[in-house]
Amino acid sequence: MAAVQGAAFPAEAGDAERGARPRWSLLWLIVTANAAVLALALVALASTPFTVDWPKSAREAVVLGAAIAATVVSQTLLTRRILGPLGALGRSMRGVDPLHPGQRLEIETRSVEVATLLAAFNAMLDRLEEERRESARRTQAAQDAERRWLSLELHDQIGQDLTALRLRIDIASRVEGEAQAQALEIASVTAQECLERVRGLVHRLRPAALEELGLISALVALCDRVGESSGLEIDRRFASGVPKLTSDAQLGLFRVAQESLPNVVRHAQASRAALDLRPFEGGVRLSVVDDGVGISGHGDGDAGSGVRGMRERALLLGAELRVRSRAPRGTEVLLDVPASEVLVEGAEPTLPVGPAIPAIPGGPVIADPGAL
Ligand SMILES: Nc1ncnc2c1ncn2[C@@H]1O[C@H](COP(=O)(O)OP(=O)(O)OP(=O)(O)O)[C@@H](O)[C@H]1O
Ligand SMILES: [Mg+2]
Repeated sequence: MAAVQGAAFPAEAGDAERGARPRWSLLWLIVTANAAVLALALVALASTPFTVDWPKSAREAVVLGAAIAATVVSQTLLTRRILGPLGALGRSMRGVDPLHPGQRLEIETRSVEVATLLAAFNAMLDRLEEERRESARRTQAAQDAERRWLSLELHDQIGQDLTALRLRIDIASRVEGEAQAQALEIASVTAQECLERVRGLVHRLRPAALEELGLISALVALCDRVGESSGLEIDRRFASGVPKLTSDAQLGLFRVAQESLPNVVRHAQASRAALDLRPFEGGVRLSVVDDGVGISGHGDGDAGSGVRGMRERALLLGAELRVRSRAPRGTEVLLDVPASEVLVEGAEPTLPVGPAIPAIPGGPVIADPGAL
Protein backbone atom coordinates (compact mmCIF):
# COMPACT_ATOMS: atom_id res chain seq x y z
CA MET A 1 0.00 0.00 0.00
CA ALA A 2 2.70 2.43 1.02
CA ALA A 3 4.68 1.46 -2.07
CA VAL A 4 1.79 2.31 -4.36
CA GLN A 5 1.25 5.65 -2.70
CA GLY A 6 4.92 6.35 -2.61
CA ALA A 7 5.44 5.62 -6.28
CA ALA A 8 2.49 7.37 -7.77
CA PHE A 9 1.40 10.22 -5.56
CA PRO A 10 2.83 12.93 -3.41
CA ALA A 11 3.41 11.41 0.02
CA GLU A 12 1.35 12.47 3.00
CA ALA A 13 2.81 13.36 6.37
CA GLY A 14 3.85 10.15 8.07
CA ASP A 15 4.68 8.25 4.90
CA ALA A 16 8.20 9.61 5.03
CA GLU A 17 8.84 7.57 8.18
CA ARG A 18 8.26 4.37 6.22
CA GLY A 19 10.69 5.11 3.37
CA ALA A 20 12.32 7.78 1.25
CA ARG A 21 9.89 10.59 0.53
CA PRO A 22 9.02 10.56 -3.18
CA ARG A 23 9.55 13.87 -4.99
CA TRP A 24 7.86 13.19 -8.28
CA SER A 25 4.58 11.67 -9.25
CA LEU A 26 4.73 8.94 -11.91
CA LEU A 27 2.77 11.22 -14.23
CA TRP A 28 5.37 13.98 -14.10
CA LEU A 29 8.22 11.54 -14.37
CA ILE A 30 6.75 10.14 -17.59
CA VAL A 31 5.90 13.57 -19.01
CA THR A 32 9.29 15.03 -18.13
CA ALA A 33 11.12 12.03 -19.56
CA ASN A 34 9.15 12.32 -22.81
CA ALA A 35 9.72 16.05 -23.04
CA ALA A 36 13.44 15.58 -22.39
CA VAL A 37 13.70 12.95 -25.13
CA LEU A 38 11.88 15.25 -27.54
CA ALA A 39 14.11 18.19 -26.68
CA LEU A 40 17.24 16.08 -27.08
CA ALA A 41 16.02 14.91 -30.47
CA LEU A 42 15.50 18.50 -31.55
CA VAL A 43 18.93 19.55 -30.35
CA ALA A 44 20.48 16.58 -32.11
CA LEU A 45 18.72 17.37 -35.33
CA ALA A 46 19.69 21.02 -35.13
CA SER A 47 23.35 20.51 -34.24
CA THR A 48 24.39 17.55 -36.39
CA PRO A 49 24.75 17.23 -40.16
CA PHE A 50 21.85 14.81 -40.13
CA THR A 51 19.23 17.49 -39.95
CA VAL A 52 15.71 17.80 -41.18
CA ASP A 53 14.59 20.92 -42.90
CA TRP A 54 15.00 23.47 -40.04
CA PRO A 55 12.30 26.17 -40.11
CA LYS A 56 13.49 28.95 -42.25
CA SER A 57 10.86 31.44 -41.18
CA ALA A 58 9.43 32.57 -37.82
CA ARG A 59 6.06 31.22 -38.91
CA GLU A 60 7.46 27.73 -39.40
CA ALA A 61 9.20 27.95 -36.01
CA VAL A 62 5.89 28.89 -34.34
CA VAL A 63 4.12 25.98 -36.07
CA LEU A 64 6.82 23.57 -34.97
CA GLY A 65 6.72 24.92 -31.39
CA ALA A 66 2.94 24.65 -31.30
CA ALA A 67 3.13 21.07 -32.58
CA ILE A 68 5.62 20.15 -29.87
CA ALA A 69 3.49 21.86 -27.20
CA ALA A 70 0.37 20.07 -28.44
CA THR A 71 2.20 16.74 -28.34
CA VAL A 72 3.38 17.33 -24.77
CA VAL A 73 -0.07 18.48 -23.58
CA SER A 74 -1.92 15.59 -25.20
CA GLN A 75 0.62 13.15 -23.84
CA THR A 76 0.19 14.65 -20.36
CA LEU A 77 -3.59 14.32 -20.55
CA LEU A 78 -3.39 10.76 -21.81
CA THR A 79 -0.88 9.70 -19.17
CA ARG A 80 -2.96 11.36 -16.46
CA ARG A 81 -5.95 9.37 -17.65
CA ILE A 82 -3.97 6.14 -17.68
CA LEU A 83 -2.59 6.68 -14.18
CA GLY A 84 -5.87 8.03 -12.77
CA PRO A 85 -7.02 4.67 -11.33
CA LEU A 86 -3.77 4.43 -9.37
CA GLY A 87 -4.65 7.71 -7.67
CA ALA A 88 -8.15 6.45 -6.92
CA LEU A 89 -6.67 3.22 -5.58
CA GLY A 90 -4.36 5.11 -3.21
CA ARG A 91 -7.21 7.29 -1.93
CA SER A 92 -9.47 4.26 -1.43
CA MET A 93 -6.74 2.36 0.41
CA ARG A 94 -6.32 5.26 2.82
CA GLY A 95 -10.08 5.30 3.34
CA VAL A 96 -10.28 1.68 4.53
CA ASP A 97 -11.16 1.64 8.23
CA PRO A 98 -10.03 -1.52 10.06
CA LEU A 99 -12.86 -1.01 12.55
CA HIS A 100 -15.41 -1.45 9.77
CA PRO A 101 -14.64 -4.84 8.25
CA GLY A 102 -16.18 -5.89 4.96
CA GLN A 103 -15.07 -2.83 2.99
CA ARG A 104 -13.58 -3.81 -0.35
CA LEU A 105 -12.15 -1.58 -3.05
CA GLU A 106 -13.89 -1.30 -6.39
CA ILE A 107 -12.30 0.76 -9.12
CA GLU A 108 -13.11 0.85 -12.82
CA THR A 109 -9.85 0.15 -14.61
CA ARG A 110 -8.56 -1.38 -17.80
CA SER A 111 -5.02 -1.56 -16.48
CA VAL A 112 -3.76 -5.02 -15.60
CA GLU A 113 -1.34 -3.59 -13.02
CA VAL A 114 -4.02 -1.60 -11.20
CA ALA A 115 -6.41 -4.57 -11.29
CA THR A 116 -3.66 -6.79 -9.84
CA LEU A 117 -2.95 -4.30 -7.07
CA LEU A 118 -6.65 -4.00 -6.35
CA ALA A 119 -7.12 -7.77 -6.14
CA ALA A 120 -4.01 -8.19 -3.97
CA PHE A 121 -5.16 -5.46 -1.59
CA ASN A 122 -8.67 -6.93 -1.32
CA ALA A 123 -7.19 -10.42 -0.73
CA MET A 124 -4.96 -8.98 1.99
CA LEU A 125 -8.02 -7.42 3.66
CA ASP A 126 -9.75 -10.85 3.50
CA ARG A 127 -6.79 -12.51 5.22
CA LEU A 128 -6.42 -9.81 7.86
CA GLU A 129 -10.12 -9.87 8.74
CA GLU A 130 -10.17 -13.67 8.88
CA GLU A 131 -7.12 -13.75 11.14
CA ARG A 132 -8.59 -11.04 13.34
CA ARG A 133 -11.90 -12.90 13.71
CA GLU A 134 -10.08 -16.16 14.48
CA SER A 135 -7.80 -14.49 17.01
CA ALA A 136 -10.72 -12.74 18.74
CA ARG A 137 -12.60 -16.04 18.87
CA ARG A 138 -9.66 -17.87 20.45
CA THR A 139 -9.05 -15.09 22.96
CA GLN A 140 -12.73 -15.11 23.87
CA ALA A 141 -12.73 -18.90 24.31
CA ALA A 142 -9.62 -18.74 26.51
CA GLN A 143 -11.14 -15.95 28.61
CA ASP A 144 -14.39 -17.90 29.01
CA ALA A 145 -12.51 -21.01 30.15
CA GLU A 146 -10.48 -18.90 32.56
CA ARG A 147 -13.62 -17.30 34.00
CA ARG A 148 -15.35 -20.67 34.35
CA TRP A 149 -12.40 -22.05 36.25
CA LEU A 150 -12.17 -18.97 38.45
CA SER A 151 -15.88 -18.95 39.28
CA LEU A 152 -15.75 -22.65 40.18
CA GLU A 153 -12.78 -22.05 42.48
CA LEU A 154 -14.48 -19.07 44.09
CA HIS A 155 -17.76 -20.91 44.55
CA ASP A 156 -16.53 -24.34 45.61
CA GLN A 157 -13.53 -23.38 47.70
CA ILE A 158 -13.49 -19.80 48.86
CA GLY A 159 -17.29 -19.63 49.13
CA GLN A 160 -17.40 -22.70 51.37
CA ASP A 161 -14.59 -21.43 53.55
CA LEU A 162 -16.37 -18.13 54.05
CA THR A 163 -19.66 -19.89 54.89
CA ALA A 164 -17.86 -22.00 57.48
CA LEU A 165 -16.22 -18.87 58.86
CA ARG A 166 -19.57 -17.13 59.22
CA LEU A 167 -21.02 -20.17 61.08
CA ARG A 168 -18.08 -20.18 63.50
CA ILE A 169 -18.52 -16.49 64.20
CA ASP A 170 -22.29 -17.01 64.71
CA ILE A 171 -21.54 -19.77 67.20
CA ALA A 172 -18.94 -17.61 68.96
CA SER A 173 -21.48 -14.81 69.33
CA ARG A 174 -23.98 -17.12 71.02
CA VAL A 175 -21.67 -18.75 73.57
CA GLU A 176 -19.36 -17.42 76.26
CA GLY A 177 -16.14 -18.19 78.07
CA GLU A 178 -14.13 -21.27 77.03
CA ALA A 179 -16.63 -22.26 74.29
CA GLN A 180 -16.38 -18.81 72.75
CA ALA A 181 -12.59 -18.88 72.78
CA GLN A 182 -12.67 -22.27 71.08
CA ALA A 183 -15.14 -21.13 68.40
CA LEU A 184 -13.03 -18.04 67.70
CA GLU A 185 -9.91 -20.14 67.41
CA ILE A 186 -11.58 -22.41 64.84
CA ALA A 187 -12.81 -19.31 62.98
CA SER A 188 -9.28 -17.98 62.90
CA VAL A 189 -7.94 -21.25 61.46
CA THR A 190 -10.70 -21.24 58.83
CA ALA A 191 -9.85 -17.64 57.89
CA GLN A 192 -6.18 -18.62 57.58
CA GLU A 193 -7.09 -21.55 55.28
CA CYS A 194 -9.22 -19.23 53.17
CA LEU A 195 -6.30 -16.82 52.89
CA GLU A 196 -4.03 -19.66 51.75
CA ARG A 197 -6.52 -20.62 49.08
CA VAL A 198 -6.71 -17.05 47.80
CA ARG A 199 -2.90 -16.96 47.65
CA GLY A 200 -2.90 -20.26 45.77
CA LEU A 201 -5.43 -18.85 43.33
CA VAL A 202 -3.31 -15.77 42.70
CA HIS A 203 -0.23 -17.92 42.13
CA ARG A 204 -2.01 -20.17 39.68
CA LEU A 205 -3.16 -17.18 37.70
CA ARG A 206 0.46 -16.26 37.22
CA PRO A 207 3.34 -18.75 37.41
CA ALA A 208 4.40 -18.64 41.03
CA ALA A 209 8.02 -19.42 40.31
CA LEU A 210 8.19 -16.49 37.92
CA GLU A 211 6.77 -14.16 40.53
CA GLU A 212 8.88 -15.37 43.40
CA LEU A 213 12.16 -16.47 41.88
CA GLY A 214 12.48 -14.60 38.60
CA LEU A 215 12.66 -15.79 35.02
CA ILE A 216 15.82 -17.91 35.11
CA SER A 217 14.83 -19.84 38.22
CA ALA A 218 11.35 -20.35 36.79
CA LEU A 219 12.88 -21.76 33.60
CA VAL A 220 15.17 -24.03 35.62
CA ALA A 221 12.17 -25.29 37.60
CA LEU A 222 10.25 -25.82 34.37
CA CYS A 223 13.10 -27.83 32.78
CA ASP A 224 13.43 -29.92 35.94
CA ARG A 225 9.73 -30.72 36.07
CA VAL A 226 9.43 -31.58 32.38
CA GLY A 227 12.65 -33.63 32.57
CA GLU A 228 11.56 -35.51 35.69
CA SER A 229 8.06 -36.27 34.47
CA SER A 230 9.11 -37.38 30.96
CA GLY A 231 12.65 -38.72 31.32
CA LEU A 232 13.83 -36.25 28.63
CA GLU A 233 17.35 -34.97 29.15
CA ILE A 234 17.23 -31.18 29.03
CA ASP A 235 20.39 -29.04 28.93
CA ARG A 236 19.91 -25.59 30.38
CA ARG A 237 22.18 -22.81 29.31
CA PHE A 238 21.89 -19.28 30.63
CA ALA A 239 24.48 -16.91 29.19
CA SER A 240 25.76 -14.11 31.39
CA GLY A 241 24.51 -10.58 30.86
CA VAL A 242 20.90 -11.44 30.09
CA PRO A 243 19.10 -8.12 30.70
CA LYS A 244 16.06 -7.96 32.96
CA LEU A 245 12.86 -7.93 30.96
CA THR A 246 9.49 -6.33 31.51
CA SER A 247 6.91 -8.37 33.30
CA ASP A 248 5.02 -9.06 30.02
CA ALA A 249 8.16 -10.20 28.25
CA GLN A 250 9.18 -12.52 31.10
CA LEU A 251 5.74 -14.08 31.11
CA GLY A 252 5.64 -14.38 27.30
CA LEU A 253 9.09 -15.95 27.23
CA PHE A 254 8.18 -18.36 30.01
CA ARG A 255 4.97 -19.37 28.23
CA VAL A 256 6.87 -20.08 25.00
CA ALA A 257 9.28 -22.34 26.91
CA GLN A 258 6.31 -23.87 28.70
CA GLU A 259 4.69 -24.74 25.38
CA SER A 260 7.86 -25.79 23.53
CA LEU A 261 9.21 -28.32 26.04
CA PRO A 262 6.00 -30.37 26.29
CA ASN A 263 5.88 -30.27 22.48
CA VAL A 264 9.32 -31.90 22.42
CA VAL A 265 8.06 -34.58 24.81
CA ARG A 266 4.83 -35.17 22.87
CA HIS A 267 5.91 -34.90 19.25
CA ALA A 268 9.68 -35.00 18.76
CA GLN A 269 10.68 -38.53 19.82
CA ALA A 270 13.86 -36.84 20.98
CA SER A 271 16.47 -38.13 23.38
CA ARG A 272 17.78 -34.69 24.30
CA ALA A 273 16.62 -31.11 24.33
CA ALA A 274 18.33 -27.84 25.18
CA LEU A 275 16.96 -24.58 26.47
CA ASP A 276 19.20 -21.58 25.96
CA LEU A 277 18.75 -17.97 27.08
CA ARG A 278 21.17 -15.29 25.96
CA PRO A 279 21.44 -11.57 25.24
CA PHE A 280 20.69 -10.85 21.59
CA GLU A 281 20.77 -7.51 19.74
CA GLY A 282 20.03 -5.54 22.89
CA GLY A 283 17.18 -7.88 23.81
CA VAL A 284 17.03 -11.55 24.69
CA ARG A 285 16.94 -14.75 22.63
CA LEU A 286 15.32 -17.92 23.92
CA SER A 287 15.91 -21.13 22.02
CA VAL A 288 14.50 -24.58 22.64
CA VAL A 289 16.03 -27.26 20.42
CA ASP A 290 15.72 -31.01 20.29
CA ASP A 291 17.26 -33.90 18.37
CA GLY A 292 13.98 -35.44 17.35
CA VAL A 293 12.13 -36.09 14.11
CA GLY A 294 11.81 -32.44 13.10
CA ILE A 295 8.70 -30.48 12.24
CA SER A 296 6.82 -30.14 8.98
CA GLY A 297 6.52 -26.51 7.90
CA HIS A 298 6.33 -24.15 10.88
CA GLY A 299 3.97 -26.15 13.03
CA ASP A 300 1.05 -23.83 12.27
CA GLY A 301 -0.52 -26.15 9.74
CA ASP A 302 -1.26 -28.86 12.29
CA ALA A 303 -4.30 -29.13 14.48
CA GLY A 304 -2.86 -27.85 17.79
CA SER A 305 -2.99 -24.29 18.96
CA GLY A 306 0.26 -24.25 20.95
CA VAL A 307 2.41 -22.81 18.18
CA ARG A 308 -0.34 -20.37 17.24
CA GLY A 309 -0.54 -19.24 20.87
CA MET A 310 3.23 -18.73 20.90
CA ARG A 311 2.96 -16.59 17.77
CA GLU A 312 0.28 -14.47 19.39
CA ARG A 313 2.45 -14.04 22.48
CA ALA A 314 5.37 -12.99 20.28
CA LEU A 315 3.16 -10.56 18.38
CA LEU A 316 2.06 -8.90 21.62
CA LEU A 317 5.70 -8.35 22.55
CA GLY A 318 6.89 -7.26 19.11
CA ALA A 319 9.15 -10.32 19.32
CA GLU A 320 10.06 -12.68 16.48
CA LEU A 321 9.20 -16.35 16.78
CA ARG A 322 10.61 -19.03 14.48
CA VAL A 323 9.67 -22.70 14.64
CA ARG A 324 11.56 -24.85 12.16
CA SER A 325 13.41 -28.09 11.54
CA ARG A 326 17.15 -27.98 12.02
CA ALA A 327 19.96 -29.91 10.40
CA PRO A 328 20.78 -32.73 10.75
CA ARG A 329 17.70 -33.52 12.84
CA GLY A 330 15.34 -32.02 15.34
CA THR A 331 13.30 -28.88 15.80
CA GLU A 332 14.26 -25.41 16.89
CA VAL A 333 12.03 -22.79 18.50
CA LEU A 334 13.59 -19.33 18.57
CA LEU A 335 12.08 -16.33 20.29
CA ASP A 336 13.85 -12.99 19.89
CA VAL A 337 12.54 -10.48 22.40
CA PRO A 338 13.42 -6.95 21.27
CA ALA A 339 15.44 -4.42 23.26
CA SER A 340 12.25 -2.40 23.82
CA GLU A 341 11.16 -5.09 26.31
CA VAL A 342 14.28 -4.67 28.44
CA LEU A 343 13.33 -3.19 31.77
CA VAL A 344 14.72 0.28 32.33
CA GLU A 345 16.30 0.64 35.76
CA GLY A 346 13.68 1.70 38.29
CA ALA A 347 10.72 1.23 35.93
CA GLU A 348 7.64 -0.60 37.12
CA PRO A 349 6.64 -3.92 35.56
CA THR A 350 4.12 -3.12 32.84
CA LEU A 351 1.39 -5.63 33.72
CA PRO A 352 -0.44 -6.10 36.94
CA VAL A 353 -0.29 -9.47 38.60
CA GLY A 354 -3.48 -11.39 38.03
CA PRO A 355 -6.12 -12.35 35.53
CA ALA A 356 -5.68 -9.37 33.20
CA ILE A 357 -2.91 -11.34 31.48
CA PRO A 358 -4.30 -13.02 28.37
CA ALA A 359 -4.00 -16.78 28.51
CA ILE A 360 -2.45 -18.75 25.65
CA PRO A 361 -5.45 -19.74 23.57
CA GLY A 362 -5.83 -23.46 23.48
CA GLY A 363 -2.89 -24.00 25.81
CA PRO A 364 -3.11 -24.48 29.53
CA VAL A 365 -5.43 -21.59 30.23
CA ILE A 366 -4.34 -21.19 33.80
CA ALA A 367 -0.91 -22.61 33.47
CA ASP A 368 0.94 -23.76 36.51
CA PRO A 369 4.50 -24.96 36.14
CA GLY A 370 3.75 -27.44 38.87
CA ALA A 371 1.17 -29.08 36.68
CA LEU A 372 3.69 -30.06 34.00
N1 LIG B 1 9.48 -30.32 18.89
C1 LIG B 1 8.68 -30.80 17.93
N2 LIG B 1 9.07 -31.85 17.17
C2 LIG B 1 8.29 -32.35 16.20
N3 LIG B 1 7.07 -31.84 15.88
C3 LIG B 1 6.62 -30.80 16.60
C4 LIG B 1 7.38 -30.22 17.65
N4 LIG B 1 6.67 -29.20 18.17
C5 LIG B 1 5.53 -29.15 17.48
N5 LIG B 1 5.48 -30.11 16.55
C6 LIG B 1 4.41 -30.34 15.55
O1 LIG B 1 3.70 -29.15 15.41
C7 LIG B 1 2.33 -29.38 15.66
C8 LIG B 1 1.72 -28.16 16.30
O2 LIG B 1 2.15 -28.04 17.64
P1 LIG B 1 1.19 -27.33 18.66
O3 LIG B 1 1.89 -27.16 19.96
O4 LIG B 1 0.65 -26.12 17.99
O5 LIG B 1 -0.02 -28.36 18.80
P2 LIG B 1 -0.15 -29.67 19.65
O6 LIG B 1 1.02 -29.81 20.57
O7 LIG B 1 -0.42 -30.79 18.69
O8 LIG B 1 -1.49 -29.40 20.47
P3 LIG B 1 -1.69 -28.42 21.73
O9 LIG B 1 -0.38 -27.72 21.97
O10 LIG B 1 -2.76 -27.47 21.27
O11 LIG B 1 -2.11 -29.30 22.84
C9 LIG B 1 2.29 -30.62 16.50
O12 LIG B 1 1.08 -31.32 16.33
C10 LIG B 1 3.45 -31.42 15.98
O13 LIG B 1 3.07 -32.13 14.82
MG1 LIG C 1 1.62 -28.23 21.83
